Amino acid sequence: MASSRRTGGNPTAAASQSLPQPESEPLPERTRAQLREIIARYPKPRSALLPMLHLVQSEQDYVSAEGVGLCAEELGLTQAEVGAVATFYTMYKRKPGGDYLVGVCTNTLCAILGGDAILAELKDHLGIGDNETTPDGAVTLEHIECNAACDYAPVIMVNWEFFDNQTPASARELVDRLRAGDPPPPTRGAPLCTWRETERILAGFPDERPNSADAGPGAGPATLAGLALVRDQQAGAGKRPAAASTPDLARPGAHPASAPETRT
Ligand code: FES
Repeated sequence: MASSRRTGGNPTAAASQSLPQPESEPLPERTRAQLREIIARYPKPRSALLPMLHLVQSEQDYVSAEGVGLCAEELGLTQAEVGAVATFYTMYKRKPGGDYLVGVCTNTLCAILGGDAILAELKDHLGIGDNETTPDGAVTLEHIECNAACDYAPVIMVNWEFFDNQTPASARELVDRLRAGDPPPPTRGAPLCTWRETERILAGFPDERPNSADAGPGAGPATLAGLALVRDQQAGAGKRPAAASTPDLARPGAHPASAPETRT
């Protein structure tokens, strides 16, 4: 999928005077009104800052100096205060990216199960490095330290949606489909939309796609295994004394995965 949104000069903003800024189109006129709409949702205006920054990203891909200045102006904060928040969270970007942010986890569990190999494969296949974007503007590759889905390692996130149990081959096919304009459905959760559309949803504006909120399971069997175990215990608690119905999970061999018939 070719992107056509990286043209135009950088807006004049006080915060951009001292630091070189990436090029982006100016924020559209509607932005100020929509920022005020977000602020009106909160008892204290400054509580609106996080979704406001998402709205800026929905227009420019990243948090620009212009966006920092506008948020500060609307909230009565300094640009330093807004910039401190925008640079604290990795979900806020400092330069424009592609339509799909592909985050590959190489934290401990994913790395052991193939995350390092997936990241290396995608770098080689796409010809880009960390935080770089393919020339067609479709894919930005990001090296992630835990996608918070360790039970499905190795995990890739695309615009914050999960693709579980990946391999180098499946990851290659995934980015090829993204670049071809044929985004595959995530393993769990809502269908993919573009980075800018995702950022608008995160800013708190409605996801207009039919049934997207209910699409797909939010948690799979591996995530729910602990819950199922507790429910089993609770169901059995009425029939047995509590001490006998609650295994000591710290004791070797107590976990169902270490049932007697599987032990050596
Ligand atoms: S270690 Fe990869 S998702 Fe947590």
